[in-house]
Amino acid sequence: MSDTAIRLAQPADLPAIYELARGTLVHDAFSPALLAEKLFEPRRPEEYTWNVHVAEHAGRTIGFMQSVTRAGAGKGWIGLFAITENARRRGIATALLEHVRQSWPAEIAEVEVLAIPGNYFTPGLDPRYTEALCFLERRGFERFRDCVNLTADLSREFDTSAELRRLADAGVQMRRACKEDGTLLDAFFAEQFGVDWRFEVSLAMRNNPPGLHLALRDERLIAFSAHSSQNREWGFFGPMGTTPVARGPGIGRVLLWHCLNDLRAAGHRTAVIPWVGPIAFYQQWASCRVERVFWRYRMMRGTPDAN
Ligand SMILES: CC(C)(COP(=O)(O)OP(=O)(O)OC[C@H]1O[C@@H](n2cnc3c(N)ncnc32)[C@H](O)[C@@H]1OP(=O)(O)O)[C@@H](O)C(=O)NCCC(=O)NCCS
Repeated sequence: MSDTAIRLAQPADLPAIYELARGTLVHDAFSPALLAEKLFEPRRPEEYTWNVHVAEHAGRTIGFMQSVTRAGAGKGWIGLFAITENARRRGIATALLEHVRQSWPAEIAEVEVLAIPGNYFTPGLDPRYTEALCFLERRGFERFRDCVNLTADLSREFDTSAELRRLADAGVQMRRACKEDGTLLDAFFAEQFGVDWRFEVSLAMRNNPPGLHLALRDERLIAFSAHSSQNREWGFFGPMGTTPVARGPGIGRVLLWHCLNDLRAAGHRTAVIPWVGPIAFYQQWASCRVERVFWRYRMMRGTPDAN
């Protein structure tokens, strides 16, 4: 489209981008604050570079595309993107993608779509965004995996009392994390679940009360579950993990119930269990159902467009 200019967006562009996103991302409901979290709140700025590129025509924002790269990991992401309806099929998304690619350092070898660790809107492309699916495949992206979000019904509270007594008898203590737990958490995640989940639980800790529950034996941390690290208006659960030696006696389900009870107390009627994982576990202990399916797309840099 002639007379279309592409530039980097600033936070002041949020209202225009929100209008565009709200009108085009029709399978999602979200506030300006949630979109701002996704686009303009760089998580872990020391490792990641976050940008939004916007396309403008006659003074109007007609498209945007988010770009994220992680230094040292050789990996980049195309985040949220959309073109206003009456400007489609004129190569604007293609031009945005080209700008994004050109802005990346040479070390970026692999590009994924939407599944940005620690700050994702969705963990892949909802295939009901069929035009986007066609666009990505045309541009050389390859579908390599599916994943799902589950939904949990929060209409009733989960009763943890009997399970807590049983676990206490077995020497397991459960409690909500507090801000003095920083060193304990650092050591635990360095050993067990890695920096990405350490980061997500640090975001969950910013809530009041902290959205992080712990299980300990002999004062050693053996399991955790978190919620509200991001996408808080959706009632977002996770991550959770139990160390291999502590798996089996039912610690995980109690931790899950604690988080779901928190989300219920915060006023949510349902919770999202994103990017799962062990579906049977959530089905059995919280009657969760598959709510959405996502297709994950990636491309090795240098892959030519499809014919
Ligand atoms: C997906 C989207 C961004 C594409 O934008 P666009 O500017 O129309 O894309 P382009 O013009 O650069 O398309 C490039 C190629 O992609 C393919 N493509 C794009 N839209 C297509 C469609 N509706 N059907 C089939 N192929 C399509 C075509 O091969 C096209 O080339 P061609 O027009 O020469 O045949 C746009 O349809 C959109 O905003 N959709 C809603 C938002 C969305 O789904 N976002 C993804 C979730 S974050």
